[in-house]
Amino acid sequence: MVAAHRGGQCAPQWAHTTRAHTTRETRYPLPVVSGVTLRKDLLTTEHLPVETALHLLDRSDYYLELLKRPGRFQKSKTLEGRTIANLFFEASTRTRTSFELAERRLGGDVVTLTPAVSSLTKGESVLDTVWVLEAMRLDAIVVRHASAGIPQFLAERLLEHVHVINAGDGAHEHPTQALLDAAEMRAALGDLRGKHVAIVGDILHSRVARSNVWLLKQLGARVTFVAPETLMPRDAAQVFGIETTTKLDDVLPTADAIMMLRIQLERQARGFFPSLEEYRSQYGMTPERMARSNAIILHPGPINHGTELDSETAYGTRSLVLRQVKRGVAVRMAVLEWLFSA
Ligand code: NCD
Repeated sequence: MVAAHRGGQCAPQWAHTTRAHTTRETRYPLPVVSGVTLRKDLLTTEHLPVETALHLLDRSDYYLELLKRPGRFQKSKTLEGRTIANLFFEASTRTRTSFELAERRLGGDVVTLTPAVSSLTKGESVLDTVWVLEAMRLDAIVVRHASAGIPQFLAERLLEHVHVINAGDGAHEHPTQALLDAAEMRAALGDLRGKHVAIVGDILHSRVARSNVWLLKQLGARVTFVAPETLMPRDAAQVFGIETTTKLDDVLPTADAIMMLRIQLERQARGFFPSLEEYRSQYGMTPERMARSNAIILHPGPINHGTELDSETAYGTRSLVLRQVKRGVAVRMAVLEWLFSA
């Protein structure tokens, strides 16, 4: 899962396992309660207790208000003396910037690493990199990686007090995106219990859809996945305990919120659907479809304008797209505050 290559050769197995054993079992044993360690990370929304989720949404409301105040922003001391590293092994605009802003606004010291300018280009593994940072007295890492499971892998090997936040791992999860989506939906629709949320598009490859479905279900919403058969995860209805359909038109009359996902153009060559025009005609939230629905519209960005959404819809009165971006900083402040609280 994690590259253990040095100069094209595999590092010996012990190079990683010994350190893991030393850290976890001998030098710094982790307290274990009924088989669960006491680490505090945000890796997934799947087991996030509803009280914690609601607390994070409430705190993001508080921070959003604070950020709206005119004039100079008064940094808080929540992360004073704490060092947070942002490790982005995949492209990101909104997520990386909003984490950095959130960390600075809470008074933390921030380092951001991108693979192109770190020793990762010299073959250093993700784990080596993280241990280097840990040795420099790191308090938290925010990690985005193309492989599912990397944040969990790191959390299992880092000292207990180093918090790990998943900022998107492959097609697995993106928990802070789901939290900010839920916060904006709640602000627009009120309590999400009983609200109908349709998630539309490339669900198969979407970490946003996965984190959203777990969180929305915890919050009591009804969720429907809308996708062509080729982009729907296998047995989605049973696995996620939700409804599924291949027809966007089916959900238009009842959906309170419609979350459009980016159609991953890089995967189009693999023939998941016939053409972009065909995709738009079946799954695009066109002005004509907007007229047949009262739902609010969300999109995590980046948007393929003219494919899943038109610009006039994306920036229209029923769209939360720009609010989602604003909420990003507030939600990440809430998450960091929670992770560093007792
Ligand atoms: C998403 C991501 O990278 O997972 N965007 C984001 O974080 N705002 C969605 C995507 O890339 O389609």
